[in-house]
Amino acid sequence: MRTVTTKRELRAALAQNEATPRVLVPTMGALHVGHASLLRQARELAGTRGCVVASVFLNPTQFNQAEDLEAYPRTPQQDADLCEACGVDILFMPDAQQMYGDDRTVSVHEGELSRTLCGASRPGHFDGVCLVVAKLFNLVQPTDAIFGEKDYQQLAVLRRMVRDLDFPITLHAAPIVREKDGLAVSSRNVRLSSECRKLAPQLYASLQSAAEAYRRGATVGATCEQVKRQLEMLSGVKIDYVQLVHPVTLRSMAVESVGEFPALLAAAVFFGGVRLIDNIQIPSFS
Ligand code: PAF
Repeated sequence: MRTVTTKRELRAALAQNEATPRVLVPTMGALHVGHASLLRQARELAGTRGCVVASVFLNPTQFNQAEDLEAYPRTPQQDADLCEACGVDILFMPDAQQMYGDDRTVSVHEGELSRTLCGASRPGHFDGVCLVVAKLFNLVQPTDAIFGEKDYQQLAVLRRMVRDLDFPITLHAAPIVREKDGLAVSSRNVRLSSECRKLAPQLYASLQSAAEAYRRGATVGATCEQVKRQLEMLSGVKIDYVQLVHPVTLRSMAVESVGEFPALLAAAVFFGGVRLIDNIQIPSFS
């Protein structure tokens, strides 16, 4: 694996490895088993002849709270070791100055899908994601890129960006990786207190039972209420949102609506101040 930290070094490394497919896995570091599965999926997609490029860049433009950026775990050596173990060919680890300079004036804004769910409570977040991913696409020029379904809205927004800006790149979704107790693996999990860690699997459990109720004919309103009731009983838990939306447009469904498939049940919930997200896709019946 070749590790590079500047755009110039990245260009040189890519010029020496023009193998295709070239598969990009963008990350913000603090890599865990969820990222390992993205990297392995990338290696499989690239095959022995293709090239896997990973980026580790803690992107300041997607954090709307300075404390959140500050608290984000940084583990560069472990990240590089994991990338190597998962078969990455080129690892790009720039700093913010390298990535953005200090007089950037252009931004990338997706104006519809970004406004709902996490976008409603994290204004500007998806602009930062689109900006950095567009830059990575231009710098790396991959044929393919892989993103996790835990950040489902991010994937939907990036699909829209690829479509609307004509990036000649195929996006692939990687399924959510879960701990044995169902908690979706996330870099934020290490910030949970031991008490909250015990409660956090309730997020997925509540989504599962509500998704089942929806499949059996519960209304959209009753489905979301069921999740909220189950979680609000827990101490130190605060709900940001629970919503049933269309999985492509991310439009909310009417509360009285019943049996609209496919659907996505998505939630963001604070466990003692740590904001966790999760979702369940509810496909159409065949
Ligand atoms: O999902 C993430 O880790 C980040 O949002 C991404 C896509 C690497 C952009 O910084």
